[in-house]
Amino acid sequence: MSFYVTTPIYYVNAQPHLGHAYTTIVADVLARHMRQRGADVFFLTGTDEHGEPVADAARDQGLEPQVLADRNAERFKALAPQLEASNDFFIRTTDDEHMRRVQEVLQRVHDNGYTYKGIYEGWYCPRCADFKVENEILEGNRCPIHEIVLERHSEENWFFALSRFQESIQRLYADRPDFVMPQARYNEALSFINSGLEDISLSRHRLKWGVPVPWDPDHVFYVWFDALLNYYTALGYAREGEDLTDRFWPATYHIIGKDILKFHTVFWPAILMAADLAVPEHVFVHGFLLGSDGRKMSKSLGNVLDPFEVIERFGTEALRFYLVRDVSFGGDGSVGMDAVHVRYESELANEYGNLASRTIAMILRYRDGAVPDVELDPAVVSDFDGLDERVASLLDRADVTAALEQIWQRVRRCNRYVEESAPWQLAREDGDAARLDCVLATLAEALRALAVLLYPYMPTSTETLLSALAAPGWGYDGASLASSGGGRTVSALEPLFPKR
Ligand code: MSP
Repeated sequence: MSFYVTTPIYYVNAQPHLGHAYTTIVADVLARHMRQRGADVFFLTGTDEHGEPVADAARDQGLEPQVLADRNAERFKALAPQLEASNDFFIRTTDDEHMRRVQEVLQRVHDNGYTYKGIYEGWYCPRCADFKVENEILEGNRCPIHEIVLERHSEENWFFALSRFQESIQRLYADRPDFVMPQARYNEALSFINSGLEDISLSRHRLKWGVPVPWDPDHVFYVWFDALLNYYTALGYAREGEDLTDRFWPATYHIIGKDILKFHTVFWPAILMAADLAVPEHVFVHGFLLGSDGRKMSKSLGNVLDPFEVIERFGTEALRFYLVRDVSFGGDGSVGMDAVHVRYESELANEYGNLASRTIAMILRYRDGAVPDVELDPAVVSDFDGLDERVASLLDRADVTAALEQIWQRVRRCNRYVEESAPWQLAREDGDAARLDCVLATLAEALRALAVLLYPYMPTSTETLLSALAAPGWGYDGASLASSGGGRTVSALEPLFPKR
């Protein structure tokens, strides 16, 4: 089973921020989970370095675009490990190999007869690098995303005959109701399609910063086609001497934010069809992270949550957990440092961390660290029944928040079990030794399975816990309760989430 997951490639005209971190973290959760299940996984992220947004930012800073691109690409590249992202490759659209393959694929689109030369005139947002169609334009001729006033542009371009894909795209949506997820985004994309597809420009004449059009080198490709193709080109050169295309194409999941829906759900499948390539299986469109006041995050409003500050104060694991837990994946959600603090204390430190610490401490104190080799308590076992399958099926739909909630209900269940069974009281009476054995074995085994289930969300702390439990495997066959956790000897564990 192969599983190929991608993030958008991020513009290098700005520095990485929480929104970028968010998409990367969620894609990483899916990648790690699928590796647990034994899938052949490829996880791609990278940077989008051509086009007006980058050329303009470089000009404003008095730099050559390549210099700005090199500088900021490094920052994005460094962000991935800080987030514990396990990406298999980091693509830059200024890679020669990428550029060559973009030319190859789009030459095929041209040879297949889907391009023509014409004059494009329209309302253009330089920040989006996108012409806006009538029903997208805000009052006062403003961009719906950046709210800046649009510019009137007219230039000779190569066009992509998108309109000729009207029926094929409609058929794609009819045949594959899960092509775009969640449902509301599918509906949004489909209504855009049903309103009638217009041809779009494929090249830029005035701009030099891009991939040259091979059949007309005075033009460069419109940055969006160069960018979208990264998902395909990367497979050709990510591993030296090996072409991974057959192994991983078409992509399983493109994870994107709602700002770039149209490109991924309409233009992208059309250009792939025009190049005789297979269309990806799913595009998952998530919402926006908003400032703590519910408004769009912006430096001037002072409501920005800085991922690096969160990491410094609470650690990467807490950032990953917080974003997935607090913002229901798919919808918009407000985020702020106070909310991180609350989740950290109440859930990571008090619920999960504490469950881990006291379970291990009790096994050390009452049984010298040896997990009793006895049958588990059926009352707890039944609450874990089918959990691994439910989590897997939610993650098959990229529902990272709902899957985490399923797991968390069992973390809480285990804490209630500790309170109800009161091992410290059982330890006082010799006659209760068998019951104490059962409680401790059940807790140790439940804690182990929970660590396996939580591994994709918090890889480092769960691995620490698994090794303290002397059960280092994180494979998904360990996500359900074994009949006994006996025979292991646990070792002392520092608090996983110390109070801040
Ligand atoms: N370069 C294009 C994407 C090309 S993909 C072939 C681009 N880059 S971007 O740097 O602007 O990144 C946009 C993406 O970053 C969003 O789609 C989303 O994944 C993430 N986010 C940026 N800001 C965000 C929020 N405020 N909230 C959530 N995610 C956001 O568009």
